[in-house]
Amino acid sequence: MRISQRYLSLLSIPWTGFALGDNSPATSSTPDVLQHVDPLIGSNNGGNVFAGASLPYGMAKPVADVDGQNTGGFSTDGSKVTGFSTLHDSGTGGNPSLGNFPIFPQYCPDDEINNCRFPKTARATHYVNDSVVARPGYFALSLENGIRAEMTASHHAALYRFTLPPATATDGRALSPLFLVDLTDLWDSRQNASVSIDADTGRIKTEGTFLPSFGAGSYRTYACFDFEGADLHDSGIWVNDRAGTDRQDLFVTRGFNNFYLQAGGFVRVKRPDNGIVTVRVGVSYISTDQACKNAESEIPRPEDDFDALRKTAEKAWREKLSPFSIKPGGVSDDLLRIFWSGVYRTMLDPQDLTGENPLWTSDEPYFDSFYCIWDSFRAQHPLLTIIDPTAQSRMVRSLLDTYKHEGWLPDCRMSLCKGWTQGGSNADVVLADAYVKNLTGIDWDLAYEAMVNDAENEPLEWSYEGRGGLTSWKRLNYIPYLDFDYEGFGTNSRSISRTLEYAYNDFCLATVARGLHKPDDYTKYLARANNWRNLFKPDQTSSINGTDTGFVGFFQPKFLNGTWGYQDPIACSALASWCSLTSNPSETFESSVWEYQFYVPHMMSTLIPLLSGPSTFISRLDFFHTSGLADMGNEPVFLTVFQYHYAGRPALSSRRAHSYIPSRFNATPGGLPGNDDSGAMGAFAVFAMLGLFPNPGQDVYLITPPFFEEILSLWI
Ligand SMILES: *[C@@H]1O[C@H](CO)[C@@H](O)[C@H](O)[C@H]1NC(C)=O
Ligand SMILES: *[C@@H]1O[C@H](CO)[C@@H](O)[C@H](O)[C@H]1NC(C)=O
Ligand SMILES: *[C@@H]1O[C@H](CO)[C@@H](O)[C@H](O)[C@H]1NC(C)=O
Ligand SMILES: *[C@@H]1O[C@H](CO)[C@@H](O)[C@H](O)[C@H]1NC(C)=O
Ligand SMILES: *[C@@H]1O[C@H](CO)[C@@H](O)[C@H](O)[C@H]1NC(C)=O
Repeated sequence: MRISQRYLSLLSIPWTGFALGDNSPATSSTPDVLQHVDPLIGSNNGGNVFAGASLPYGMAKPVADVDGQNTGGFSTDGSKVTGFSTLHDSGTGGNPSLGNFPIFPQYCPDDEINNCRFPKTARATHYVNDSVVARPGYFALSLENGIRAEMTASHHAALYRFTLPPATATDGRALSPLFLVDLTDLWDSRQNASVSIDADTGRIKTEGTFLPSFGAGSYRTYACFDFEGADLHDSGIWVNDRAGTDRQDLFVTRGFNNFYLQAGGFVRVKRPDNGIVTVRVGVSYISTDQACKNAESEIPRPEDDFDALRKTAEKAWREKLSPFSIKPGGVSDDLLRIFWSGVYRTMLDPQDLTGENPLWTSDEPYFDSFYCIWDSFRAQHPLLTIIDPTAQSRMVRSLLDTYKHEGWLPDCRMSLCKGWTQGGSNADVVLADAYVKNLTGIDWDLAYEAMVNDAENEPLEWSYEGRGGLTSWKRLNYIPYLDFDYEGFGTNSRSISRTLEYAYNDFCLATVARGLHKPDDYTKYLARANNWRNLFKPDQTSSINGTDTGFVGFFQPKFLNGTWGYQDPIACSALASWCSLTSNPSETFESSVWEYQFYVPHMMSTLIPLLSGPSTFISRLDFFHTSGLADMGNEPVFLTVFQYHYAGRPALSSRRAHSYIPSRFNATPGGLPGNDDSGAMGAFAVFAMLGLFPNPGQDVYLITPPFFEEILSLWI
């Protein structure tokens, strides 16, 4: 998409921060943008960010896995390293994602195999705190036992370079380092797996079936390991804490009581004089042969390729970060790091798995790790629409191809599986956003069909696709509290947040209907986009610890018979207790009635009078942001930071944004207020600092002064 001068002038707020018309790219004197990217931001304190090496949207994501906060593999929480694995997600909630088939190097005392430590907890080893180096395309650390591990990645393969200190047995013999491969993942979800080792070459092939971290079903994944730079000593398999060299293959499954056997393969090599052993790991979701082919074609000379591969990754990142450059005007390096690291993290997930989808055959792109769209529709996809429209268009095509082959647009998707739906059918918002921003290359008839499907047809399993309660939605025009829904099955909660989200989803559908010249559909869905009003209870008050907040009129649950139910407006906020699908399920999801009262992104001119007019609306926003009710750690809060605009006070949005950045977003490893959610938090910070905040699904940006003197853009 191009933001044209004409388009910007439609927005009536003076445009002071951008140097419009300046086409100069970052000049050679400009410092390397990569120096401002710190992949460790969000690697502690629940950010769950992937800190390892990756290409933009890369499938191979090598990093050290720890036994502490390991949702994204590694954390700077000082925990112990249990291995080095090649598949990961970034910023997600739910269970730790992927981390399949970790490798782990060690010496067996006296070269006796059974002196080595095989199970995860036995082998876990602290890393040296200040040894961690995380750069775009590169990750390294040293274990306390003196082994240094470095890694870089191509799209479907990783290259690990281990530097091993010499070690000797009691009799003075040099020891041979052992590399085990574990048939497991980060959360030990393996259902069954196998390993086979070629005793002549040392090549290890693995495959296994695992569970998605926030979804239904299971997925299979494959890997292929080659060891270079050292002569093979021996190889074999291990089970629990015992190993042997007689057998070179193994199959494990879940038996009595789902018993989890720890098992895998290993090779030992003779330590070379320079101590360097290179391990090339190809990964695939198709087959082990494909995993080996991926490795061979992308990393043909593993011993020589490390530095070149790292440079290629750096170049790819530099290109992705090139659509704009910043003239900081004296702002701190920390703010630059928050900004550029945020941009960087929006391109870790979703992952481009084109050619790696075993589920259907298609010429369309396939992206995975939409984790979850409930998080990413608000800022991440709108940011990609601006800075990488080609990738965003491919992602939209992938969503549509998924609809075509699986019958439904995903709301959340990971590891080739359907992920749990959090609220509405928010892929609809991603599609409408692409539509109003003229993203090219999309089959809009197919997109329209997919959106209508969400709006009209209730799936049997609406826990992971489509919407629930559609009979009531069409008949009563709201989702009832304790709905009587026999058409399909899902968690029968969230009646308020689903009503608000479905109303907005229908508005998005109406937007596309209008564009595609379907006036009857436009009228129909625009009417449904009003459904949020049916849950507004004008006399509802809200108290905190017995003290009335003074605000009157909130959304409330409503039974099928039209009688009001009750949910305390502060319930599910940080002042009360957490509500999710499984923990304390309530009528709002992961967010309170207080937060959801602002979620009418399409009809602010109707909402504000209902909330007693602009000045009360501003007081509500102020109270919300200063009372502890606002949850900056979760995505529904995003738009509320900027909604002062709709009451005619954009400067107050700006004040709010400048208080949250840097108070809740900083450049330290613990510097995110919550899960990054595949780059959603990063995208929030980037838009806030750019001074443009999207109202996704609409051709609207809420403009505030940028945090920098100038943002030089190549779009114009
Ligand atoms: C390493 O860092 C962690 C987390 O900050 C800390 O708990 C641990 O004590 C540190 N270890 C050393 C040896 O400094
Ligand atoms: C592995 O586990 C999956 C999921 O339980 C099952 O569908 C598959 O048949 C199993 N494979 C083998 C070879 O047992
Ligand atoms: C999209 O294209 C239409 C038709 O050419 C044009 O009217 C509209 O301004 C464009 N929107 C954007 C955001 O560029
Ligand atoms: C409400 O009261 C409890 C108990 O006195 C106190 O711990 C809590 O901080 C209060 N909450 C607020 C939001 O004032
Ligand atoms: C409506 O249904 C609710 C829940 O079953 C019940 O508590 C309430 O009394 C009903 N109201 C009327 C007017 O029947």
